[in-house]
Amino acid sequence: MKNSGKRSIPPTVMVIFGASGDLTARKLVPALFNLSLDHLLPENFFLIGYGRKHVSDDDFRSGLKKSLSAYSRRPVNKDIWDKLEPGVSFHTGAYDDPSSFEELKLKIEKIEEMVGGPIQCMFYLSTPPSGFLPILENLGNSGLARLHKNTPSASKVIIEKPFGRDLNSARELNQMINRRFSESQVFRIDHYLGKETVQSLLVQRFANSIFEPVWNRNYVSSVQITVSEDLGVGSRAGYYDRSGAMRDMIQNHVMQLLALTTMEPPSSLDPEAIRDEKVKALQAIKPLKLNDPHAEVVRGVYTEGLVGGEKAIGYQNENGVSSTSYTETYAGLCLQLDNWRWKGVPFYIRSGKRLARKVSEIVVQFTRPPAILFGHDSRQPLSPNLLTIRIQPNEGVGLSLNSKTPGLETKLQPVNLSFGYETTFGSNTPEAYERLILDALAGDGTLFIRGDEAENSWGLLTPVLDYWQSMGNHGLEEYAAGSWGPLAADKLLLQRGHEWITNK
Ligand code: BG6
Repeated sequence: MKNSGKRSIPPTVMVIFGASGDLTARKLVPALFNLSLDHLLPENFFLIGYGRKHVSDDDFRSGLKKSLSAYSRRPVNKDIWDKLEPGVSFHTGAYDDPSSFEELKLKIEKIEEMVGGPIQCMFYLSTPPSGFLPILENLGNSGLARLHKNTPSASKVIIEKPFGRDLNSARELNQMINRRFSESQVFRIDHYLGKETVQSLLVQRFANSIFEPVWNRNYVSSVQITVSEDLGVGSRAGYYDRSGAMRDMIQNHVMQLLALTTMEPPSSLDPEAIRDEKVKALQAIKPLKLNDPHAEVVRGVYTEGLVGGEKAIGYQNENGVSSTSYTETYAGLCLQLDNWRWKGVPFYIRSGKRLARKVSEIVVQFTRPPAILFGHDSRQPLSPNLLTIRIQPNEGVGLSLNSKTPGLETKLQPVNLSFGYETTFGSNTPEAYERLILDALAGDGTLFIRGDEAENSWGLLTPVLDYWQSMGNHGLEEYAAGSWGPLAADKLLLQRGHEWITNK
């Protein structure tokens, strides 16, 4: 994980496939603009939007300028935009048409001539998954994938999620990618890894000596990871109904948070050293028990309810969702890692839409102190210490400690030590996509998912998905929009002597 400051990035042409989509407007172009504002893009930087519908260069440019005004983290600076704009163009073509790729190559060669030296090609796959295979095939056949192989200007490819929909499709995709690109050229994106607080997780763990001695089964009684959203599926029902919470959130974002929380210290900050440790952590997770009474998985779907005081309709009534859909909008799991550090510690993870509020956090619950002194007096078990890593919102870290309340009696109360990013560092930190695009341009894969990470995560979850598929709507629990999810998810913890901490 290198410093994101000035790094040597060769002249670059970035080609975005699916450039007319939402992601380009909302995230990618604002990220590029903000990088340019910080003078972090190379002097010679070109952007080619690639899409199936014809768009003129001028229309593409003016569309991007409008989206910048709407979505950029910082106000649009005319000088910066005027510098970027001439390098922006649009290439109309199908994803499965070899001749479009030949034309693209000619365009890139012309840019190279103009620059007078090798140019790095960064291919950004932001299309629906059906576009991935033909695009990769054509990048390979046209020779674009191998351009400047084994040099700093070697072509690179960024792949958006979803990375497959089960273990087999992820493997197939990996094989296809690896036939065309070597792994060091591939950047599988998970925007959670670009979040400032997620990057900070490793720093908190390994740059502070107080955590490591207690970060194990001897002192930790359980860990909870919650990634909840108050929004519903909005306009994305078409995509979401084929995915569900497990594929959309757990397989990637939540499993990455889990891997970073549980991995061993890497031998260095080399991307491969970090990713090796994440893979080992993922491999240590035991297969999940699917059947009652010991089931370790819960799925649910939201029904009508109140979210933030506003009435929200049920998932099956959402526009674009069939009333007989049994896609889960909530998934909760109890995971066990079969390794020296974590044996016996339950990891409760959950993610869902239309929950009580939007929050992503990791709560490490330490073992209860023995109730010999104060616990005995008050006949109350002592509260366990909780370390809460707030990924978003209210980014920061909290640690609860037992303290004496002021007064003549010895009464105990948990109090909180809290660090907040905003109060300490101010707001306006770079967006995840800024960091991730910059890293990929510089060839640093630390914050991207390696092929084997994706496969290990799918390997764990595919049996659950297959089981759910085979059960249809049997076992699909309901929860009211605006609640904290199905009761069965509370039971999952209660049966094991715990309860969700974020719900309190
Ligand atoms: C995306 C999912 O990957 O992450 C969305 O596809 C979800 O369904 C989003 O809403 C959440 O991201 P964030 O950064 O808002 O927590």
